[in-house]
Amino acid sequence: VDPVRPGTAVNARDLPIGVFDSGVGGLTVLKELHRQLPGESTLYLGDEARMPYGPRPAAEVLTFTREALAWFAARDVKLLVIACNTASAVALEAVREETRMPIIGVVRPGAAAALSASSRRAIGVMATAGTVQSSAYVRALKDLDPFVEVHQQPCPRLVPMVEAGEFDTPMAADAIEEYIGWMVQGEPALVDTLLLGCTHYPLLRPAISKVVGPSIRVVDSATTTAYAVREVLASHGLLRQPPGAAHRIFTTSDTDQFRRVARTLFGEDLPAVEEVRLPLEPVVGN
Ligand code: DGL
Repeated sequence: VDPVRPGTAVNARDLPIGVFDSGVGGLTVLKELHRQLPGESTLYLGDEARMPYGPRPAAEVLTFTREALAWFAARDVKLLVIACNTASAVALEAVREETRMPIIGVVRPGAAAALSASSRRAIGVMATAGTVQSSAYVRALKDLDPFVEVHQQPCPRLVPMVEAGEFDTPMAADAIEEYIGWMVQGEPALVDTLLLGCTHYPLLRPAISKVVGPSIRVVDSATTTAYAVREVLASHGLLRQPPGAAHRIFTTSDTDQFRRVARTLFGEDLPAVEEVRLPLEPVVGN
């Protein structure tokens, strides 16, 4: 029997998956969702006008996340993915208590992936300042394995570098080495697994791999989050099969700016991008 939303004729299975990010970087998660779940429709919201979230105080990230959630609540999504590591780390626990919308963040799936990749259970986390300060990855890792050793490193220069198109360049390599050299070099290195705890870092993978060498595993949360989404939808009979998936992308910035950054990051042109303003205008009663 198809799960049908009460009071509507819409099959819940056909509703889109919502994906929220502070900007363009969450497209790494969106792409992985499209790859693993080709039958699913998606609705992406990037708060590009107010990115980066990484250096912002937690209270501000929480407010912005609440505003994004209100936008998704006014639409129908069957599940919301918070693709932004900073928003997942800082706001997910709080917003979960405030809404009935099912939400998956990237922290827990990323932590689980790092643990299964790690043999010595010594994990390094690269993330934004906000994510590191929240200790969300440390908590998630220790929830899953209280013996795990975790080393964190905030990498505030990496997001602006990626957005400027600096991926596999000497400048990128220098910054990465400066940030994580202390945990990945030496025999044995302090960590055996490196967790890329930010939407933008998968784009730096080639440069990061050169700094860490072949003996350290590099794990990102995009792949495992998509996998977690598939598991949870399957277990509730909510997986949708192709064909007929529809995708929409919204940004709070000028759409040309969003498409420009997306082109720098992914080397391809996005289809139509639509503009939205946050916070939503309050509905005036009459
Ligand atoms: N999306 C953010 C994250 O994954 C990175 C960009 C930002 O700081 O807003 O933490």
